[in-house]
Amino acid sequence: MTTTERPATEGEQLRSRIAAELERTRARTALLTDAVDDDDLVRQHSTLMSPLVWDLAHVGNQEELWLVRDVGGREPVRRDIDDLYDAFKQPRRDRPALPLLPPAEARAYVRTVRDKVYDLLDGIRFTDRKLVEDGFAFGMIVQHEQQHDETMLATHQLRSGGPVLDAPPPPEPRARVGGEVLVPAGPFTMGTSTDPWALDNERPAHTVDLPAYAIDAAPVTNGQYRAFIADGGYDEPRWWSGAGWRHRVEAGLSAPMHWRRDGDGWAYRRFGRWSPVRDDEPVVHVCFHEAEAYAAWAGKRLPTEAEWEKAARWDPATGRSRRYPWGDADPVGTHANLGQRHLWPAPVGAYPEGASPLGVHQLIGDVWEWTSSTFRGHPGFVAFPYREYSEVFFGDDYRVLRGGSFGTDRSACRGTFRNWDYPIRRQIFSGFRCARDARPGEAA
Ligand SMILES: [Fe+2]
Repeated sequence: MTTTERPATEGEQLRSRIAAELERTRARTALLTDAVDDDDLVRQHSTLMSPLVWDLAHVGNQEELWLVRDVGGREPVRRDIDDLYDAFKQPRRDRPALPLLPPAEARAYVRTVRDKVYDLLDGIRFTDRKLVEDGFAFGMIVQHEQQHDETMLATHQLRSGGPVLDAPPPPEPRARVGGEVLVPAGPFTMGTSTDPWALDNERPAHTVDLPAYAIDAAPVTNGQYRAFIADGGYDEPRWWSGAGWRHRVEAGLSAPMHWRRDGDGWAYRRFGRWSPVRDDEPVVHVCFHEAEAYAAWAGKRLPTEAEWEKAARWDPATGRSRRYPWGDADPVGTHANLGQRHLWPAPVGAYPEGASPLGVHQLIGDVWEWTSSTFRGHPGFVAFPYREYSEVFFGDDYRVLRGGSFGTDRSACRGTFRNWDYPIRRQIFSGFRCARDARPGEAA
């Protein structure tokens, strides 16, 4: 990390990039909160989720805490509401009963905070503190808001009533993709020490040596998943772990969330519209236990987090790990289904330009992919800038998901980005792909 003074032009470039990212992100937040009326904003659409108006003011409050008060050293805008919007003090199910800022006040609050941030951004020196080096604190706040935008999108999916969101359908397949890719044994670099806006849990870069394995070239599709259902997969305890089977029975699971029988087939509800299930799309809204049971039924297993990342980043030609499967360049529209440009996963084969050097497709975007790994710090992990970002979640309670979904913004999605959730959760945009150990003689 350098502490030398940068030329003004570089600082200016960073300043305008930050301003653009803040603005782009706020436009998405506005779209998600302006799409419904005030009644819908304050209502709790599921006990798993906050009222949308809580997310809105919480985004502003985090921005106030980190950028206005900490980075800017300015006076608080609303110290009196800190507790209301503290995610650790207020469980989601209790949030609708709190004396929350009403919609108009919440909107005015986030605007006031943002104006102060633009003001302090003008005079900031990105070399003064580690927190602002390379604009990190601003990047963290952009990613935080985008993560809440994805959560708000998941709330929209749980909302009853007619459709209020619209987007063109994802692209059609442009390549035939299927089967498995063999990943040879050997070391690769996992995590990053250089990506400037990477979060603490993605750091540091370290070497991981893996035996040879095979991984699916694409996420598991609805068609494949339907075969598991049709084969009695939900009625057969041997495919499920003990905890998975108990949850299957208690929760009465019989298909992915938002599916219902439709004659001989299935239909799913997506943002207020029912349509027949399309077989070549990645399955979405399955929990870890369902993913694990499918994999066992298919004679495979879920990949570990390291296996997922090696398949996504390792370039056999150079031995280097890339930022993304396609290289180091930031995502564009032809790489991956990200950023809520579309409202559901794209069919398999829709993003050949986003494939990894080994030929693994759609690792980024479409659906978050469950891995078999519990959430831990990488070797050498240091909490930054606060333990509550990730360290307090380390342990066996959570499983790691990788790769981002159609609802994930590009700023909050990298080859190293890590997400985590409880193994029973499926209101998130979660799917999976399978892996297996290489067979003797199979490894190159
Ligand atoms: Fe948050």
